[in-house]
Amino acid sequence: MPFFSLNGWRLFLVSGLIILAATFGPLWQDAFSSQSLRWAIRFTARSSAILFLLAFTASALFRLMPNRFTRWQRANRRFLGLSFAFSHFVHASFIIAFAAQGPEQYAYAVTPDMVVVGSIGYALIILMAATSFKATAALIGAKAWAWLHSIGVHWLWLQFVVAFGVRAKAGGPLYWSFIAVFMLALAARLVAWRLRVVAERRMA
Ligand code: HEM
Repeated sequence: MPFFSLNGWRLFLVSGLIILAATFGPLWQDAFSSQSLRWAIRFTARSSAILFLLAFTASALFRLMPNRFTRWQRANRRFLGLSFAFSHFVHASFIIAFAAQGPEQYAYAVTPDMVVVGSIGYALIILMAATSFKATAALIGAKAWAWLHSIGVHWLWLQFVVAFGVRAKAGGPLYWSFIAVFMLALAARLVAWRLRVVAERRMA
């Protein structure tokens, strides 16, 4: 199946199934041990990061580099965002399973600050996912929608950078690569935003 034919709900379904199959296979084989749950938490944090980045950069990259891929990305940004939300809820489910499976290891791995900051992230993900439909978006109005989604994506961006950042020193090149891509993503958004403002001023 050509990649670009993955659109809309089909994209959501396929990405969700891939994430579930990729994690439940190894978890099942390892009898859902704490170690395998910890691996699955890391896996879903990374799948979420990739889906988040695709949604986060969709409009900016299309403005900067209009091509087949960025057109696909922009057309599917809502579904990429919803796929990110799904991936991150799988992350949350594995965290809960990890807490139940190894409470001591969980207490060692998760600090109270992580829970507070992480819960704000989850509250924003729920609100953004819930308002990703025409009817619910209309309920809160265009202005509130724009504020919520702008604050939400930038908070989550920061949370990813901090989460990868605290692990980068011990974790090595993969973590630094994620941080670099997150920085480039923000830079792309800023440049695209500036170009849009300049173009709008010229038109006025
Ligand atoms: C209450 C909420 C949350 C808790 C308790 C939590 C807990 C965890 C745990 C236990 C790990 C794995 C630690 C390890 O084995 O090394 C992890 C990894 C991670 N989490 Fe979460 N998390 C939460 C929310 C979030 C949110 C909202 C984000 C991003 C927006 C996020 C991003 C990450 C990232 C980037 C990693 C590192 C993955 C890696 O090692 O490659 N987490 N989290």
